[in-house]
Amino acid sequence: MKGVFAFFVHPMSIEDVAKKYKIAKKVSSKLVASVLKRRRPFVLSQITGLTSKTGVTADGFFIAIPLLTWQFYELEEEYVIKKLVKGCKVAKREGAKIVGLGAHTAIVGNGGRKLAKVVDIPITTGNTYTIGTAIEGTLKAAELMEINLKNSTLAVVGATGSIGSVCSFYLTPYFKRVILIGRNKSDLERVREKVESRSSGEVYSSTNISLIKEADVVVTVTGAIEAIINPKDIKSGAVICDVARPRDVAEAVVKVRPDVLVIDGGVVKAPGKVHFDFDIGLPKGLVLACIAETMILALEERYENYTLGKEISLERVNEMMKLASKHGFELAGLRSFDRALSLSQIEEIKRRAYEVRNK
Ligand SMILES: NC(=O)c1ccc[n+]([C@@H]2O[C@H](COP(=O)([O-])OP(=O)(O)OC[C@H]3O[C@@H](n4cnc5c(N)ncnc54)[C@H](OP(=O)(O)O)[C@@H]3O)[C@@H](O)[C@H]2O)c1
Repeated sequence: MKGVFAFFVHPMSIEDVAKKYKIAKKVSSKLVASVLKRRRPFVLSQITGLTSKTGVTADGFFIAIPLLTWQFYELEEEYVIKKLVKGCKVAKREGAKIVGLGAHTAIVGNGGRKLAKVVDIPITTGNTYTIGTAIEGTLKAAELMEINLKNSTLAVVGATGSIGSVCSFYLTPYFKRVILIGRNKSDLERVREKVESRSSGEVYSSTNISLIKEADVVVTVTGAIEAIINPKDIKSGAVICDVARPRDVAEAVVKVRPDVLVIDGGVVKAPGKVHFDFDIGLPKGLVLACIAETMILALEERYENYTLGKEISLERVNEMMKLASKHGFELAGLRSFDRALSLSQIEEIKRRAYEVRNK
């Protein structure tokens, strides 16, 4: 039997809406938002050509949840969840056996938990595989930048979140110092206590994002609706893995800070000849890890609620990494702002950082 999955996406910006409806650029954003709010979820495109290394295949489709990122926060949670329930009905009607929640559809209602209680189709946020690939990419980038982790400082921005808390937990033993950054002091303290037991050095928590200036390695994974890390905030020679969608790191960083390495977190290569019939903003064959997790569960025919809520165990991350490898998913090399990075570009970043240090 062939696996069938659906994946929820939503427009991050008016430009995204204009990819399907050109008129969106010609009218006010308020009008676009109000039309989207009333629009029902619909099948956006078919996903074909996914073939595992084991030979099994799965088909899928994207379902558009017509809400802009900020609407997930401005609208009543109940209203947003009702819309997601309608999306699940579309998924089921079209034959999907599991639904993946993309971007902010995965954050609302305690990371999918509230939705899972009211729908009769399994769901997953995709955060488990996202965590695994973010960790893998961060460690790879730090190695290429020749950062000696044992003498270095790690900062995790969004450390109280579903992805950020597990990345903090996993990465802490590698570093001398760890700074956990978030907005809520008591949540931060809870994560700090858990993480501290894995550290032989110091673990701090703070609500002050400017502390990332002290970090050699940064993982940033907040639910912010626009960029929160700007060129002046970053230490020279640092690696930043930006997992957030929309991104946490301002695009200006790549233009004015040639001495830092910003990598896109959670981008993987899918097996087979995957075709989306829609511009997902990535080159052919590449997908976000959250989509990949949904694909992997469909290939496995594991139709169960897989990743929900904020507590994700390392055992689950390890299991998902093994399943990914079994089916032929792998990290898509290092990428920065949607462009592949070559080793010579990384050498150039190192050279620039050396120049800054020795000025
Ligand atoms: N690349 C991929 O494949 C992929 C896959 C899944 C998710 N993502 C992205 O990862 C991000 C986080 O997802 P998640 O499921 O971990 O979300 P989450 O559990 O809601 O955690 C988000 C974290 O960000 C913090 N935060 C929210 N708004 C902020 C702001 N304006 N400034 C600073 N911190 C803020 C939250 O703090 P509070 O507790 O104070 O709200 C929380 O610590 C999202 O952007 C999502 O789209 C990417």
